[in-house]
Amino acid sequence: MDLSGKHIVIGITGGIAAYKSASLVRLFVKAGAEVQVVMTPNAKEFITPVTLSTLSGKPVISEFFTANTGEWHSHVDLGLWADAFVVAPATASTIAKMANGVADNMLVTSYLSTRAQVFVAPAMDFDMMRHPSTVRNIATLISDGCRIIEPAEGELASHLIGKGRMEEPETIFKAVATFINQTEEINNNSPEDISRSSGELAGKHILVTAGPTRERLDPVRYISNYSTGKMGVAIADEAARRGAETVTLVLGPCEVSPSEDRVNVVDVESGREMLSACLDRFDECDVAIMCAAVADYTVETPSETKIKRENADIPEFRLVKNPDIAATLGKRKAQNQILVGFALETDHEFENATAKMKRKNLDMIVLNSLRDKGAGFATDTNKVTVFTADGDETAFDLKEKIAVAADIWDLIAAKYKCSKS
Ligand code: PMT
Repeated sequence: MDLSGKHIVIGITGGIAAYKSASLVRLFVKAGAEVQVVMTPNAKEFITPVTLSTLSGKPVISEFFTANTGEWHSHVDLGLWADAFVVAPATASTIAKMANGVADNMLVTSYLSTRAQVFVAPAMDFDMMRHPSTVRNIATLISDGCRIIEPAEGELASHLIGKGRMEEPETIFKAVATFINQTEEINNNSPEDISRSSGELAGKHILVTAGPTRERLDPVRYISNYSTGKMGVAIADEAARRGAETVTLVLGPCEVSPSEDRVNVVDVESGREMLSACLDRFDECDVAIMCAAVADYTVETPSETKIKRENADIPEFRLVKNPDIAATLGKRKAQNQILVGFALETDHEFENATAKMKRKNLDMIVLNSLRDKGAGFATDTNKVTVFTADGDETAFDLKEKIAVAADIWDLIAAKYKCSKS
């Protein structure tokens, strides 16, 4: 990939994987990019600045001042110079500082000043990787717009086996180079819309359903479920952050709301209302993600007045099936549209999820099981396995819902380039 004229900041922090950063620098230089290495003081214990400055052809920056000359290194200039800002390896400590704005070294200070896309390649022991504080900090970085290059599983510096090995330099290089090339393509196509088009969803119209539905028994009572809307709202927010042209969130009654201004919320109450809101918008959308927990049954004839406890008879309601929104859209789906469903299961997860995907004519289904602690309804976390209609299966660890949303969009982007056309 040609990166001639591109400016890459590579931030290196103090971990064993720092030795791999030499290859990363080399890959960018070979592709024609100008590379500026910034190291935290601890990183110098793991790889020498001389190696990195030789490979990059530029003196490494580590301190705010050069000690002997008193020369001041401007973190603001560096941040603005960058077309991409890559932190690899990113230790738990640097991730925590980035997530909390602790600007006590040149790397984090430059990070806070940059307007470039930031890529973070974590590397640490697997217990540190799955510690709730690291999970939280990574979720914060994602919601701040960083792209996380997930670490791989394998033997770690501690000799323990698990997830925490920094991804290989080739993989990190490819993620960054692909992003730069895509952004360039998009900017060439629509120069007037540069600020909104810095992601793979530029120009795309996204429809997401989220939350529960309420099926009325009478004006004060209803049938519903435990969905909080958190998972679907995270998916809609992430689509907006990735530059989607429009994001419509059809949202059942819940407390949460999107944090991205560009998400257009359509409030609905019942399954039928949700269907009608989706049908109004489906034909124009490129990707629809059905995350709502739609009540499977609704009340055939709800009472128009409050049912009184004093009545002699115990009321009886006949339930009828609610429309299946995902299946309805699946029948209507055009060749170039992508339809993604969720499956919330308690048993026979694989069979049930894949059967739902087929029955509803979905391109992808995201399975979450109530048997996994921290997954499904009402938690801030989820653990999902994603199946595609052509037989791929990708399992993810338990993560913050915001990070799960990023994984889902990454898969959609990788699989379909966001559009089947
Ligand atoms: O909202 P949270 O508290 O964050 O919880 C998230 C979640 C658990 C609700 C979410 O991750 C999830 O699993 N959503 C789907 C829940 C569900 O209804 O699953 P299901 O297996 O019953 O339905 C399968 C698919 O068909 C889903 O895409 C669902 O949106 C859709 N469906 C179901 C019934 C129906 N009448 N119409 C539909 O469109």
